[in-house]
Amino acid sequence: MNRFKIATRLSKIKPSGIRRLFSFAHNMPDVIGLGLGEPDFVPPPHVLEAAKRALDDGKTHYTSTAGISELREALAKKAKREYGLTYDTETEILITVGGTQAIFLALMALTNPSDEVLIPNPGFVIYQPDVLMVDGIPVSMPALEENEFKPDADVVMSHVTDRSRIMIVNSPNNPTGAVFSHDDLASLAKLAVERDLIVISDEVYERITYDGTKHYCLSSFPEMRERTLVVGSFSKTYAMTGFRVGYVFGPEELITPMMLTHQFSVACVSGPAQYAAVAALEGPQSFVKDMIAEFDRRRKLLHGRLDEIEGFSCKLPKGAFYAFANVKELGGSSKNLAEFLLNRAKVVTVPGSAFGTYGEGYLRFSYATAYDKIGEALDRIEQVLKDFKPKTRAV
Ligand SMILES: Cc1ncc(COP(=O)(O)O)c(C=O)c1O
Repeated sequence: MNRFKIATRLSKIKPSGIRRLFSFAHNMPDVIGLGLGEPDFVPPPHVLEAAKRALDDGKTHYTSTAGISELREALAKKAKREYGLTYDTETEILITVGGTQAIFLALMALTNPSDEVLIPNPGFVIYQPDVLMVDGIPVSMPALEENEFKPDADVVMSHVTDRSRIMIVNSPNNPTGAVFSHDDLASLAKLAVERDLIVISDEVYERITYDGTKHYCLSSFPEMRERTLVVGSFSKTYAMTGFRVGYVFGPEELITPMMLTHQFSVACVSGPAQYAAVAALEGPQSFVKDMIAEFDRRRKLLHGRLDEIEGFSCKLPKGAFYAFANVKELGGSSKNLAEFLLNRAKVVTVPGSAFGTYGEGYLRFSYATAYDKIGEALDRIEQVLKDFKPKTRAV
């Protein structure tokens, strides 16, 4: 029996479905990981140099709560250049510990007990637990394969009630690789305006799209700037996951309470990491272009091979670095299949159910792994799959 009681709000939160699988894999030799959601690239040298220089120059102190002014200014320029949006560097931009903290801060600062928060299902694993941690009620917006894994605005509308307060939108999408079109976003924006919702637009994969697919910033739609918190990150675009730098743009009315929450919880983001982020934004961008070209090569390999495997079918992902394969034909649960593939093929994938109830029947494959490894992983999967019996619990 535990001696101390934990907070009641945590009792509703289960550990991530991915963790158990990953810890199994950790102790196995010769495993190929198609599970992790982080680029397998090293940030470009000028970014690493900037972090080292910051340390050598004695920039080892607290920064201001909002983040160093150089970074906020560089981000304001980026918002203007890429989306035509103007944000005030003093009151409308906050530097956070990755996109992860930006999302939590937004929910913490803006959710009251029993407020309903619309979240994508399947969706990124933190949304539901974050809403629960702030005593909100998560309400699923189904993102079905029939609709190319995008939430249908009419269906979403049917889930909106008088208690709905926030809607989380994520494009390009984790786990499905979907990228929402201008029309898709316009209908969600219209709904948000009509129902007076605050929108958290998780755009951390904004730069990672393929085949000329365009990403639109949700804040640039009519009447959206005043209600949208745009969440961005250096993790994916510049392979800077371990630096933990993200940011949020939004109207002062929404950023001020987030700033307060940030000040009294983490104080500020690591200074040297922020200087590295400035270098990433202001330095040469060829690294990003090359990384995306390599992701594209892997995407085509992974998609082509997945679609050939009997029992799997897979839509060509348009963004991020994930393929979400339909495995319903094989029967059994996605967790059962992921465990089987780990034990028999030594390949890590993530069961779709880890991303929500509507993810059941799918497996997420990350292609943030070397091209040759992806090929080998699929060879292995193909070889063992004939032995898969839905009820088999391979341990
Ligand atoms: C959709 C989405 N949003 C936000 C994040 C958070 O990333 P970070 O905290 O590293 O910026 C991730 C990371 O996997 C993600 O997939």
